[in-house]
Amino acid sequence: MKTIQVRVSSGAYTVNIGADYKLIGHRLRELGCSGKVSIVSDTNVFPIYGGDLSDSLEKKGFEVHYTILDAGEEYKTLSTVESLYKAFHLQGLTRSDTILALGGGVVGDITGFAAGTYLRGIPYVQVPTTLLAQIDSSVGGKTGVDTGDGKNLVGMFNQPMDVLIDPAFLDTLSLSIRADGMAEAIKYGLIRDDGLYKRILRGIDQDEMETLIYDCVSIKNAIVAQDEFDQGERMILNFGHTIGHAVEKCGNYNLYTHGQAVAIGMVYAAAIGEKLQITPAGTKDRIVQVLQKNGLPTETTLTPEQIFEALGSDKKKSGSHIQFILLERVGKAVIVPIETYKLKELLQFM
Ligand code: GLY
Repeated sequence: MKTIQVRVSSGAYTVNIGADYKLIGHRLRELGCSGKVSIVSDTNVFPIYGGDLSDSLEKKGFEVHYTILDAGEEYKTLSTVESLYKAFHLQGLTRSDTILALGGGVVGDITGFAAGTYLRGIPYVQVPTTLLAQIDSSVGGKTGVDTGDGKNLVGMFNQPMDVLIDPAFLDTLSLSIRADGMAEAIKYGLIRDDGLYKRILRGIDQDEMETLIYDCVSIKNAIVAQDEFDQGERMILNFGHTIGHAVEKCGNYNLYTHGQAVAIGMVYAAAIGEKLQITPAGTKDRIVQVLQKNGLPTETTLTPEQIFEALGSDKKKSGSHIQFILLERVGKAVIVPIETYKLKELLQFM
């Protein structure tokens, strides 16, 4: 097992990569937890892993409770958070208990937000079960929910007390959910590490996943350490996400998965960068190549007008411009403010 220490203003925590989720009870004791553990999971994940996880906790003397949410981005709402508050109340949780998120990014984001706001904060642990959650959303403390106006518009920075990553979870993932995570892994290569981009282009076998996760989390950790609250450098993690979130929203969150939308967004960002002569010519084609190799889409039937309309609620919008992430080359991202009217023009060239 490899570990990565994340140091943030609220303290520090460990990302345990290659951990065995069946030893979660032992790990929580090591961390000094006692009393109740409230597992939050979903209808896809809990039936597969919930039993072993609960057994491990019970064996170590924890009083285990669980709440199983409906699976899917469409349930990442304030009303789901409210249902969690109700469940936590009925479970009698106090600030000395622990909440545990078992699932993908949606479960992790909702649980982190509910844990951070219920009783003004109960410690929580992330046990991410998808590649996307393991390399991105479980680390760095961004939590929250979508509103009718856009993705992740309500939320808070709430760092977990521990992240336990078991690559064995990836064995039960469908190819499309794996591809979803690969979109984020490709993003890390594009923004910070051209060697990682080249490795992914060659192809990543199942036995290389643990190293891939380690490399991606290391990049994220280095960026979060510099800019915990997303005021500057951390924005580069959003490469492909500005257009990606708009594409997701246009498709009502069920036409494209997050990773598919980010894949399309990265192609757009490369094309825009090339048009502005910030990104070297040919970069878009290199991105298309690696995305196609990983079963990800590289274009959409959505119109530029639909995408532009959906950009309206982007969090990176500030006044009359959007902080757009472009590539100076494969392996180096830059933040470029683009006037909204200019972006509208640029989208027409796609
Ligand atoms: N997922 C982007 C970030 O954590 O900043």
